[in-house]
Amino acid sequence: MGQAEHAWRHGFSRRQAIAGLGSFLAASPLLHAQRDPWPLGAHRRFMGFDEIRDVFDFEPLFRANVPLSIYDYSAHGTESEFTLYRNRDAFDWVQLVGGGGVAPADVDTSTELFGRAMPSPIMLAPTSRQRDLHPDGELGMHRAATTTSTTMIVSNASSFPFTRIAEEAEGPLWYQRYATRELDPNRAALDEGQEAGAQTIVVTIDQQATLYERDLHVRHLGGAPRQVRRRTPPNPPNPYRVGAGRLWYEWKLFDDLKPLCQVPMLAKGILTGEGAKMCLAHGVDGIIVSNHGGRSLDYGPSTLEVLQEIVEAVGGRVPVIIDSGFRRGTDVLKALALGANAVCLGRASRWGLGAFGEPGAQKVIEMINAELRQAMASVGAATLADINRTMVKTNFP
Ligand SMILES: Cc1cc2nc3c(=O)[nH]c(=O)nc-3n(C[C@H](O)[C@H](O)[C@H](O)COP(=O)(O)O)c2cc1C
Repeated sequence: MGQAEHAWRHGFSRRQAIAGLGSFLAASPLLHAQRDPWPLGAHRRFMGFDEIRDVFDFEPLFRANVPLSIYDYSAHGTESEFTLYRNRDAFDWVQLVGGGGVAPADVDTSTELFGRAMPSPIMLAPTSRQRDLHPDGELGMHRAATTTSTTMIVSNASSFPFTRIAEEAEGPLWYQRYATRELDPNRAALDEGQEAGAQTIVVTIDQQATLYERDLHVRHLGGAPRQVRRRTPPNPPNPYRVGAGRLWYEWKLFDDLKPLCQVPMLAKGILTGEGAKMCLAHGVDGIIVSNHGGRSLDYGPSTLEVLQEIVEAVGGRVPVIIDSGFRRGTDVLKALALGANAVCLGRASRWGLGAFGEPGAQKVIEMINAELRQAMASVGAATLADINRTMVKTNFP
């Protein structure tokens, strides 16, 4: 390099001096008034309905629409939220093995549960208090389910009474119940539900002792949500907030409830093959493999990890449905390949309703169904009967 070129490259040029001065001024407190209070990276523009690409996109929109305590009530898991995250991690531990050769338009996702035809194995899990998400609450969610011919399980902790939802319901209707210890309230509720048109009774037996620490931490925003306040057992006083509400559940519960059910009775919250066998021994007609979306016992397994064990224990005697963490069509395909008969969406449907009301919930269901068809085509499955264990490789830790 000649002397002139060296000086040109390494000398302190006029241009560098100006750039240096510019940087100094930009960083100077003198110019703070001119600074963008929202640097580009922090700019937010919420997506429009037509811009949504996948189901995850609904969550921030839902979050933006509601107070933090309502968002947290939907989002939280128990304690350290290990199981909440594990539910999603588990999908990373299952690979799909593609065969191809089928066009998505030729894929048929139809199936049948308890003698009723369903166009898809995707259903809606029971989730409470949907009116917190949108004024239409369960009525809007059920309309979205009906438009998409999806079976919705209505929670007994709904914002509207089951009879009101049933009155307006045109599509399939299942009823979920948290049983009480005394039989009479169960009898009254199940009679009323079945009279109103419940096609099955889902008895949830997990959520025995739960602690939502995230909820407790929002007290500075005007108090913990109603949920936590209600949950604090007043009698006997329990300073550690371990819910005592349902700790009495035992298998005998199903013996007591079975005579009250004229429709199939399902157990929700099963996580072991042994548990599934006990359900069958006590008259249960269907199993829902669920850890309540990580809201029951923390440090339990993801549902995907235990699915095969339960399917083997059940041996085809009753349908096996699964939930907890399902957000994509490929998630659904993985569960079907591991032996599930159907899959329920929990938070995903709440995000849709909370983001855009009924059309949002409808779009969530449609998207996951479209993704399922696409994924089935990619692995070479034209029907649900074509899906089998060879289409997945599991690598659970
Ligand atoms: C906010 C919220 C409320 C829920 N309420 C109920 C309920 O009332 N009854 C019930 O059996 N399960 C309830 N669940 C559990 C769901 O039925 C389902 O098991 C869970 O949402 C599946 O996990 P996912 O949300 O990750 O899909 C609730 C879940 C959430 C997130």
